Amino acid sequence: MHYNEARFLTENRRVSSTDQNRPSHVAIIMDGNGRWAKQQGKARAFGHQAGFRTTRDIVEACARQQIEALTLFAFSSENWKRPEAEVGLLMDLFLRALKSEVSKLNENNVRIQFIGERSAFAEKLQNEMLRAEEHTKDNDGLSLSIAVNYGGRWDIVNAAKQIAYKARDGELDPESIDVDLFSQHVSLSDFKEPDLFIRTGGEKRISNYLLWHLAYTELYFTDVLWPDFSDTELGHALEFYAGRQRRFGRTGEQVQGKNA
Ligand code: IPE
Ligand code: IPE
Ligand code: MG
Repeated sequence: MHYNEARFLTENRRVSSTDQNRPSHVAIIMDGNGRWAKQQGKARAFGHQAGFRTTRDIVEACARQQIEALTLFAFSSENWKRPEAEVGLLMDLFLRALKSEVSKLNENNVRIQFIGERSAFAEKLQNEMLRAEEHTKDNDGLSLSIAVNYGGRWDIVNAAKQIAYKARDGELDPESIDVDLFSQHVSLSDFKEPDLFIRTGGEKRISNYLLWHLAYTELYFTDVLWPDFSDTELGHALEFYAGRQRRFGRTGEQVQGKNA
């Protein structure tokens, strides 16, 4: 499967974020690769490869849709607990994907960044991540953030630690610590919080994903396993989102401007 590069590029330029019924930031837990492989009587590795192809398609679809930022959970801080062979395979797949996809993503104006504790990865992998970020940093199409060795609790603790160091060094007054300041120290601080969260694979849990960021995100769960997730399935999630009334604590009437 390959990108239809010309179409991807043209439509990516047409992106506009004026429509309030469309999310500008989508965060996805891509789950169900292993079960998908099992259904076909194949090894889990087969599911991860198929999942990778879906990821490629969904990045392309998001670039074509009116989506500014896409954040994907690729490997959690807890996924190290998996059998060594599976972890190794995921690392190989990750490295190969970085080598094969970055230039195409770059041609399509996608900006890539990684979030998570990357020092745990092999140096080769860390270098490829840096290279991908550097290579695409000036792009202003879709912002693709990939969460690797990421945990929401780690993110919050890491922010607290940075703030504590600044307070110790006299760079900030502890009294000035508030939600805004804290937000500036967690991952994805350059982006609006996710509007829409999607989890495939049937589980209705957050699995230590963006704990800080999902406070007011619309949550969409589907039983579809990640390798079967498609443009059409993404469309269903976007339709679900379009039907939500986001109140952020206010009343429905206030939001509709009737009784503000
Ligand atoms: C998601 O699919 C991929 C990663 C966690 C890396 P899973 O591998 O968790 O698939 P299931 O949940 O076992 O089906
Ligand atoms: C969450 O899926 C992590 C990723 C998709 C990368 P898991 O499959 O690891 O989550 P649990 O273990 O079912 O909660
Ligand atoms: Mg899973």
